[in-house]
Amino acid sequence: MARTKSTPQKRALVTGITGQDGSYLAELLLDKGYQVFGLVRRLSSSNHTNISHLADRVTLLDGDLLDKTSLIAAVRRAEPDEVYNLAAQSHVKVSFDQPILTAEFTGLGVLRLLEAIREVNPKIRFYQASSSEMFGQVQEEPQTELTRFWPRSPYAVSKVFGHYLTVNYRESYGLHASAGILFNHESPRRGLDFVTRKITDAVARIHHGLQDEVRLGNLDARRDWGYAGDYVRAMWLMLQQDEPGDYVVATGETHSVREFLDAAFGVIGVTDWTKHVVVDPAFFRPAEVHVLTGDASKAKRLLGWEPTVTFPELVQMMVRADIERVELEQLNAQNGVTLAKLNALRSPTAQAQLG
Ligand code: NAP
Ligand code: GDD
Repeated sequence: MARTKSTPQKRALVTGITGQDGSYLAELLLDKGYQVFGLVRRLSSSNHTNISHLADRVTLLDGDLLDKTSLIAAVRRAEPDEVYNLAAQSHVKVSFDQPILTAEFTGLGVLRLLEAIREVNPKIRFYQASSSEMFGQVQEEPQTELTRFWPRSPYAVSKVFGHYLTVNYRESYGLHASAGILFNHESPRRGLDFVTRKITDAVARIHHGLQDEVRLGNLDARRDWGYAGDYVRAMWLMLQQDEPGDYVVATGETHSVREFLDAAFGVIGVTDWTKHVVVDPAFFRPAEVHVLTGDASKAKRLLGWEPTVTFPELVQMMVRADIERVELEQLNAQNGVTLAKLNALRSPTAQAQLG
């Protein structure tokens, strides 16, 4: 969209742009004509795989949710109309091993960013990535915006803190601050240590004869799994409303890890996956969230949001993408070996030996 006086180009700052959701949201915002800024933390060896295809279209700004000064600088530099806070230590099991760090990133990080916005420009619209994990030990089925929270991990407790701060800054300072209570959403860009991607990656490797088994934890856990590409649309819609609010975003269907295994192994024609799956207590959690099912009626009614990808379509999409990726990795590895052999043949010693 060209910048004109009547329709100035909108600007958005996305924290967590290198993650699954950040990459899909950046694509959506670029498609809508936004100028997109992404907050990235400096790592000695950066991993920007999810956004490498957007490298020349987004502006990356250094910053860390642990460091309020860097957040203020990023908000000043980006001059955003909208800030999407997707950055977090997002792994539930890891949060039991690193509870304090998780509370710093996932809980206090929200407060630092809200403070940065209040200080630089309170007119900026704010999206907080709240989570269905907040429902934890669920108090009713399905869960709505009004269902009582019962968090079951340091991650979930930190998300509840961030959620209520978002509500509090809306009520106290009049910020246009919205929270999306998103249920699990997946894609080929999902981190490899979340259960869906761990399974689809293993299925792809088993299909290519590269591994034989996968070790998993609780196969009876049930989740409301949707497609990440659909869910970032809901985030954007929330910030386009006149009034800020909280919205559950979910498919309304729940499936067990076992059902995910059925569907994923089904894609490669394996009906009995039990010989490939080992249940390993190392992947159990000190407290488990057994079942989640969301009721997204409010998002459907007020935002006009609908999911477009069904559970079987999602599983197929992920397995097929992993099969293709593993195949490419193998080809690259083979080409690498061939290239190494060619280089060795070209070396002066080899040339001399060949005469
Ligand atoms: P993700 O793939 O794990 O991405 C997390 C992002 O946060 C990464 O870009 C990571 O950067 C960044 N980050 C972590 N710590 C940071 C710090 N201290 N400062 C700056 N950036 C930091 O997560 P996701 O699946 O896209 O989820 C996005 C958000 O939605 C998260 O807040 C998650 O908790 C929440 N959520 C996710 C789901 C879901 O099912 N996916 C459901 C509900 C809520 P690096 O690349 O440097 O690690
Ligand atoms: N990660 C993982 N690894 N989970 C396993 C495994 C395994 O080997 N085996 C069984 N599970 C079970 C977990 O115990 C859990 O009940 C379920 O599979 C889903 O686990 P994850 O994929 O790690 O997701 P999550 O539900 O704990 O958390 C995700 O969704 C939340 C929204 O409800 C994350 O994306 C969170 O950031 C997000 O807030």
